[in-house]
This record gives sequence, structure tokens and C-alpha cells, in this order.
Amino acid sequence: MLKTHGCGVLRETDAGSEVVLAGWVHRRRNHGGLVFLDLRDASGLVQVVVHPDEAPEAFRASEDVRNEFVVQVRGQVQVRREGTANADLATGAIEVHARALDVLNAAETPPFPVNQDSNVDESTRLRYRYLDLRRERMAANLRLRHRVVKFIRDYLSEREFVEVETPVLNLATPEGARDYLVPSRVHPGHFYALPQSPQQWKQLLMVAGVDRYFQIARCFRDEDLRGDRQPEFTQLDLEMAFVEQDDILELIEGLYASMVAALTPDYTLVSPFPRLRYAEAMERFGSDKPDLRFGLEIADLTSAVAGSEFQVFANAVKAGGRVRGIGVPGAASMARREIDRLVEVAKANGAGGLVWIALDGAGALETLTVEDVRSPAARFLGVDVVAELARRCGATRGDLLLVAADQDAVTSRVLDALRRQLAGELGLADPSVLAFAFVTEFPLFEWDATEERWSAVHHLFTSPFEEDVPLFETDPGAVRSNAYDLICNGWEIASGSIRIHRRDVQLKVLERLGMTFEEAESKFGHMLTAFTYGAPPHGGIAPGIDRTVALLAGERDIREVIAFPKTKTASDLMTGAPSPVTPRQLADVHVDLAEDARVELARQARGGE
Ligand code: AMO
Repeated sequence: MLKTHGCGVLRETDAGSEVVLAGWVHRRRNHGGLVFLDLRDASGLVQVVVHPDEAPEAFRASEDVRNEFVVQVRGQVQVRREGTANADLATGAIEVHARALDVLNAAETPPFPVNQDSNVDESTRLRYRYLDLRRERMAANLRLRHRVVKFIRDYLSEREFVEVETPVLNLATPEGARDYLVPSRVHPGHFYALPQSPQQWKQLLMVAGVDRYFQIARCFRDEDLRGDRQPEFTQLDLEMAFVEQDDILELIEGLYASMVAALTPDYTLVSPFPRLRYAEAMERFGSDKPDLRFGLEIADLTSAVAGSEFQVFANAVKAGGRVRGIGVPGAASMARREIDRLVEVAKANGAGGLVWIALDGAGALETLTVEDVRSPAARFLGVDVVAELARRCGATRGDLLLVAADQDAVTSRVLDALRRQLAGELGLADPSVLAFAFVTEFPLFEWDATEERWSAVHHLFTSPFEEDVPLFETDPGAVRSNAYDLICNGWEIASGSIRIHRRDVQLKVLERLGMTFEEAESKFGHMLTAFTYGAPPHGGIAPGIDRTVALLAGERDIREVIAFPKTKTASDLMTGAPSPVTPRQLADVHVDLAEDARVELARQARGGE
């Protein structure tokens, strides 16, 4: 070893010890004729003092040293002089007096400061990710991720789960997101698909008698990317035989509650995790992943405005829609400019407009007068109706009502967006709280307007409510499923379901999704056949590891907890992937480029004008 100790582990009790340290120069200061180096390695920071008289050679060497140089220091641990201890640093009671200093490697000036948590353009961070990962926050995120995964492995191993690896080269299937395809060299014209999740494999493992399976599994989806989505990401994939929904939810609640307590105990969480049915979540919050750290619950105002002459409301109701709204505490005093911004948020989410009503003055709602109501719709509604709207929204004077009238799908989207916007602006969401909850009873099917057919809300192996099966023909949209999500602070953290384990039911679902018997057999024959050989009832769930770690780390973007993430256009800025390949490589896998790809490559070859 080139060192005897980690920089961050030295304490007062080490005073007097001779140590050898090796690491990066975090910061270098010249002070009162001495050179101070903050030396950093994976374990932390320590202050090294280089004295011109005590160690003249080391002093000479230290004069050439710059930030991020890799150095080795020999010296003695000493307690710092009184008044110079640094309480913010774990090693702050001591310093190392250098006897020798060797530069192991020099460093160019980094493209951004490694020793500060300053804002740096993300593409620069990604291009020099190895420097970005040296920064304290990112290093801490990587370590937290390791501890999360280790905790999960230990927790499940103690409960008889077996980790099984499943293939990465898979059969392509038509459902779900777009697949990443891998051409076969041996089978001209044939392709593998990278797994969107190990869903089918884990069900086959249940048929195989594994009973309790898990895997820290890499998944690949070619979909539009956002802050909580990467083209490749990691799931804790798990499945159990002979279980019902409660068994899975209890296991996951136990795992998350004990993981938070062990790894990030400063968070507060509500136990037991509340459970919301999908319909209830949509009604109260307009979302299937509501942030439950604050109220702003949605109220149905339709019957309160039934007699009103306000055309916007009347027309929406006539077209089968509803009038729904939220009361924002204390927001009557919002500037007009801020309210206009909320109207813009509503419009950006599909609303024709947003009715706002500010309730001024003090005292009970019963005493509300015309002068107290400020709203573009005031004269159409009248004071009594406004007071009733306020009551239903749980609002009072001083509050602001925001009202949308349209189909439920629209009002839900709009009011959900407003809830999130307002929570941000007004600081309603306590960052020290993790508001976990389960959402259950998702619909089995949803209408896909582009494809003009029913599609699976979760996935096509999810079991329907037994008593809803007759609705397959008459009202597919009303069929409830045994699917469930774990949500927290506005994020979907995990998704799962109790599966179909009978061939006849699986065929019925595939048929409802528009597949002929022949298509079903050709794409899912292996599953349908496996179900005929004694498939146990089974179910499972898959929490996203990236989202879990981001949540615990207090990060908003999962890229902050992935060592080498991709950009929003699925590129790796450091290595340059994806890249063109040689004609020879393409020929090997029997692939010809389409015209648009050739044109693009030619354009790039000319310098990308
Ligand atoms: P689902 O598709 O809902 O379910 O995914 C489960 C969880 O995986 C995470 N996740 C993602 N994380 C980052 N980037 C992405 N692109 C991404 N997509 C999904 C989320 C999500 O809740 N096989 C089923 C699970 C099951 O039924 O057991 C499945 O994959 O945290």
C-alpha cells in the first residue's frame, strides 16, 4: 500500500503517530510562511502542514503542487494549536506535519472546481464525469447507492429470497416502450431486444419453483427521457409465489421503512404507509402519484355551480365534464402577475382557461360581500355561489380558489400541475418528510387513441379482479386490476401486480388487447405453455433503484445518483456513444443503413453544418 491511513479517518487519538497518506490536493494555501494542503481521498479530508524549517525538501516540492495533484505525504499527526481546530471537519482536531512530500502525478487545471459544490454546466460535468464524481456530493451519492443496494440484498436474503440473473439478450415483444434492438450475426435478419424489465423471466422462475426471487436488474427502454427516466436504469425486481397483494405491500413497506431508518434516519415518514385506490387518488389529487406532504386537495364543485349562468362552467358540464377546484391558503394576496403564471401553467396542461377567485377581508364566509370577491368570473357567479365553492375547497377569506371546468382527464392533469407548481412556489412540501403511500386498484385497460385499441395500464400479465372479468366485453375501461404502485413525494417509486397464472385468463387478456390467437401464441407461447405445467399463483413488484436513491439523497434528477448517466438524447458525452460503426461491422450483422441515416452520417462527416 502507498498509504497507512485514509485521510478522513485520523482523530485526536492518533496524535503522535507516524503516517503515510496518499490522495488529491483539495486546496493549497500559503499562510504565514507555511504551506497548508487539504489532502483528500475516498475517506475524507485532512489538513497537512508543510514547514520550511522542519521539512525543507517537502516544502520545496509543495510549492509546485496545485489542486488535484496526486501526492504522497509522510508525516506525524499532531493536535492542532488551540483555537485552530475546525469543527466542520471530521479530522478537524488534528493536522499532519509533513516530513516528506512526493508528487505521484501532476494534474491539469480541472475544467470546473472539484472542491466546491458550485453550479457547473451539466454537459461539462458529464464530459468529465470522473472529475465530477470526485466532488463531495456526488461521491456521497455513489456511496449511498451502494448502501441502498447492500441493504436490499441483505434484507431480502434474510427472508429466503434468491438472487437470480436473467438474460440481457431477449425476445422482442410488441408491448410497452420501444425496445433497444441487437442484430444477430448468426441469424441474418433476426434481432434480440434488451430487457425492458425481467418480467417474463421472473414469472417463469415462479413456475420453476424458485418461490422468492429478486435481482438488481439493469433495464433498457427507448423512450422519451426526463429527470426521472434514463434509457438504461436499475430495478430491484422481485417476485413471490403463493402470495396476495398484502404480502407484497407489507414486504415493501418493511423494506423501505427499515432502509430509511438505517441509512437516512433524519427523514420523517408516516407508518403504516397510507393506501389510496387509484380512483380516489385521481379524484382527490388528479394524479396517481400525488405528493402527500401537503393538502391542496381537489373538490368537486359541479353541483354548486349547476344553476350558474357562467358559460364556461355550463358548457363543460353539458359536454360531460365537471367543475373542480382547489383552495390555496393565504394566496388571495398573490400578485396578478403570479396568478397569470398559474393560468399559463393550466393552459400548458391542456386547459382552455383557469378561473381564479381571490377572497379578501376577514371573518366567516357567511359575511362575504361583493367587494370581498376579486375574480374575472365574480359577476357571473354571485357571492353565495363563491362562498359555497370556498366551503367545498376548505378555503376561507385570504385564500385563492383555482377552478377548472372540463373532462376529468383534463381537470386532473391541470389541477395536479397546479398543486405541484404551488407547492414549489409556496414551499409547501417539507423536504425532511418522505410521504410514502401505496396506490391500488388501477384499471386493467386504457384506451389508446392513436392505435385505436385497448392497451394494458400496467402490463399484460397483470391479473384482473375476478368479478370484473365479465366487463371485458361490455366495458373494458371499468375492469379493475390487481396492480399497485409505491409512491413518495410525487414520484412513482415502484410498480407491481398479482399476475395471471392461468392460460385461459392470459389468452382472454391478450385477445382483449387486440391479439389473434396465432399472434398470442407466437409472441407469448412460452408463457402460455408454462402456465399449463402447474404455475403457482404469484405476484411481485419492481422498485426503481435510481429513483429510490435520488429520493433518499434529496436529488431531483436520477442522473445525480448514476455514475455514468446518459443525456436527454441518450448520449454518453464522455465516450461519445452512440457512434457510427464500420461498414464491415454492419455487414457482419446483416444490417444496411436507411437513406436518412446515410444522409445524416454524410452531413456529420462534412463537419455537421
Ligand atoms: P414499471 O415499468 O412500472 O414496471 O417499472 C417499475 C419501476 O422502474 C422504474 N423505472 C424507471 N426508472 C428510471 N428510468 C426509467 N426509464 C424507468 N422506467 C421505470 C420506476 C418504476 O416504478 N415489470 C414491471 C414491474 C412488475 O410488475 O413487477 C415493471 O417494469 O421506479
